[in-house]
Amino acid sequence: MSRVIAVCNQKGGVGKTTTAVNLSTALALEGRRTLLVDLDPQANATSGCGIDKKSLSPSIYQALLDAEPIEPAILATPIENLFLLPAQPSLSGAEVELVDLPNRETRLRNLLQPVLHSYDQILIDCPPSLGLLTVNALAAAESVLIPLQCEYYALEGLSQLLETIQLVRGALNPNLEIEGILLTMADFRTKLTTDVIQEVRRSFGEKVYDIVIPRSIRLSEAPSHGLPIALYDPHSSGAKAYQALAHAIKKEKADAGNTWTGQGNPGADPRGTASPASAAGEENRAVPGPSSGDSAESVPASSEN
Ligand SMILES: Nc1ncnc2c1ncn2[C@@H]1O[C@H](COP(=O)(O)OP(=O)(O)OP(=O)(O)O)[C@@H](O)[C@H]1O
Ligand SMILES: [Mg+2]
Repeated sequence: MSRVIAVCNQKGGVGKTTTAVNLSTALALEGRRTLLVDLDPQANATSGCGIDKKSLSPSIYQALLDAEPIEPAILATPIENLFLLPAQPSLSGAEVELVDLPNRETRLRNLLQPVLHSYDQILIDCPPSLGLLTVNALAAAESVLIPLQCEYYALEGLSQLLETIQLVRGALNPNLEIEGILLTMADFRTKLTTDVIQEVRRSFGEKVYDIVIPRSIRLSEAPSHGLPIALYDPHSSGAKAYQALAHAIKKEKADAGNTWTGQGNPGADPRGTASPASAAGEENRAVPGPSSGDSAESVPASSEN
């Protein structure tokens, strides 16, 4: 039976799609049969896998709106074990069109139900909003992976996301967990990055992955070639970081003690950075990530940048 993870943050441009595409690929390359669900009308995960989003029929849009089976829409990708449920720009209409339909919040869950046994892992790339599409993802998922960009306003909006998760838990999906918080686009040469990492770890402790995704030009170039980083530049720091994350998530699956629910934001600075004063007294702790029983490391900024 597959594990369903929603990659979610209503903030735009924080690395959701980059994470969904490259983590899916890394898991698939580890031998896990993986389905990547593109739930964003921008369809960036679809094009990031080298699929032309304009030439699709059917896509997730028809499945969601007409409650049709999703199997005919699922595509094989150039990566062995990686399959894609693609999106199209028309999906933007779904936010409005779903409103009047029955089971509007649980349609994705119902669609995925018949294919759960076919995959070891399902990842859902969410759009940058907390609308009905994201609620569908949260209702269908067992856990949420939250990418946070290493920038000044990193934690802004996170409490709203955690509240939404709490609401979904209460109304639709009581077992929904926080898979982990993933720091992205880290430039370890800057004090801002180290301050943000420190602040996020101080606020969310063990739920923050040890693995930090570095800012990498190769990661930003890969989608324009329609390739995940593992194919575009397998030796880059970005490829290694997502491979390490895949290892961590595989290990976490065996860890029954992952029960943090995200209830109560422990007083995080919503701007996401420690003030110089608060940062000064705090050591940059290597708090074990949610998956780690080993010494998973932050991957340092690469020389390719
Ligand atoms: N680690 C990284 N290093 C360099 N560039 C990155 C990295 N991660 C993401 N990017 C780039 O940052 C931009 C935003 O990333 P991405 O599309 O993954 O974010 P997103 O959260 O999915 O955005 P949206 O909210 O619009 O869906 C993209 O141009 C992407 O190539
Ligand atoms: Mg995206």
